[in-house]
Amino acid sequence: MGFIDDYKVEEKVVWAPQQGPQEMLVNCPITLVGYGGARGGGKTDGVLGKFAIVQEQMGEDFNAIFFRKELPQADDLIERAKQIYLPLRAHWQDQKKQFRFPGGGRLRFRPLANDDDAEKFQGQNLSHAAIEEAGNYANPNPIWKLFGALRGKGGGQVILTFNPGGVGHHWLKIMFIKPWPKGFKILQKELPTGRKFDYIYIPSRVHDNQILLAKDPGYIDRLHMVGSPELVRAWLEGDFEIHEGSYFPEFSSKHIVAPFNVPKHWPRYLGYDWGFHSPFAAVWGAVSSGKDDHGNEVPYPKGAIIIYRELWGKGINNVDQAEKIASLSLNEFPVCVADPSIFNNQGGPSINDQLNAVFAKYKHPGFKQADNDRISGWAQIRQRLVGNPPLLYIFASCPYLLETLPSLSIDKKKPEDADTTGPDHACDALRYLCKERLIDAAWEKPADTFNRGRVKLQAYVDMIRAASKRTSI
Ligand SMILES: Nc1ncnc2c1ncn2[C@@H]1O[C@H](COP(=O)(O)OP(=O)(O)O)[C@@H](O)[C@H]1O
Ligand SMILES: [Mg+2]
Repeated sequence: MGFIDDYKVEEKVVWAPQQGPQEMLVNCPITLVGYGGARGGGKTDGVLGKFAIVQEQMGEDFNAIFFRKELPQADDLIERAKQIYLPLRAHWQDQKKQFRFPGGGRLRFRPLANDDDAEKFQGQNLSHAAIEEAGNYANPNPIWKLFGALRGKGGGQVILTFNPGGVGHHWLKIMFIKPWPKGFKILQKELPTGRKFDYIYIPSRVHDNQILLAKDPGYIDRLHMVGSPELVRAWLEGDFEIHEGSYFPEFSSKHIVAPFNVPKHWPRYLGYDWGFHSPFAAVWGAVSSGKDDHGNEVPYPKGAIIIYRELWGKGINNVDQAEKIASLSLNEFPVCVADPSIFNNQGGPSINDQLNAVFAKYKHPGFKQADNDRISGWAQIRQRLVGNPPLLYIFASCPYLLETLPSLSIDKKKPEDADTTGPDHACDALRYLCKERLIDAAWEKPADTFNRGRVKLQAYVDMIRAASKRTSI
């Protein structure tokens, strides 16, 4: 009896699906699977795990590709894949960006940006193709082209993973969610080629991923720093019905402050959004050091941006805009960032050249191109608004920004973004400014959350410093 037990080899489970949608995905043989919904629902892990299981069953017939729109986006994916596949004695070939499994199967990681990329794989006899973050595709054509790379005769499977909110929100919703919102039902689709195939929507919710919620209890809170509350709700529930709403409902009266003299040593920034028929807008911000010019504490945490001035106007020519901006911030020498489009020069001088000619007279710094990545820019504003205490304050003397920031609404076609049809000019200027002065990722709640011994010591050091400063005046 005991003989066999003595020789039993310890088997370690490297990966197992979680009950629910992940398990469904692993067992699902249907040609096209839309595995969509919550951010953090376990979709990516589900696909990687499925491939680990399927390659064992298929041996050298397993020939899969994991696509992302751009390959650098796959770095985290590859790291996670290594955690699962290397213990299975798979071999990672970095040059080829592929895993070779001991049974002879292979899994490659490839970019799929457009139709041309998809053409490269025609006739490749793939057993599986996974498209990560299909919501990043405004147009699904490159994905449909991949069907030409699948093994013939009903073999082969394409798996899309996606969240609500991206540029692909609309077509994903029409195809996967509209026909049967609860999912788990076999549907039929016809390709432009006339080929028909079965497909299914497997919905995913964040609570389907108990492993993540146990391991990272702050996960949901952190999502709130990235998306509007309505979008975060949709992300968590995997809900594609995004309701109308304010893009920045976090904005409240606690962000509005009475004007004060901005300490001279605080660094200054100017964000500018050009306009003529539609308004131009400029906003000035200063970054708190936590102290005033005499070393006294101020109620704005170190690193907070205080918007202390705004300027906007419609139908004003470039010279007049520049004159006004430069004369308002004389001797402030802000770091100036502007909407990148003003740097275009089609033959003649660019708008920026025209503004610069005026700025030179005032010895006002010139503009540099702002980072115009909208989603990450809005996230900077949101993170500053939801901070406790907030890290963004606006002088009550800036009515244009104060009116338009809270009225910015969600773009229904691309809910992770703000609607651009409203008066968003001051908000754009603010976004450029915040993108230039990124929130300190290491920022933590001040003093009272630290352990007491350290707080006391820090307070003591501050006191000594403050005292020594005072004597030197
Ligand atoms: N079956 C599983 N086994 C172990 N960890 C898991 C499993 N499913 C999910 N996870 C964990 O949850 C994290 C988030 O899941 P992920 O698949 O990246 O979510 P999604 O792609 O839906 O946003 C993973 O990085 C992994 O740490
Ligand atoms: Mg994922």
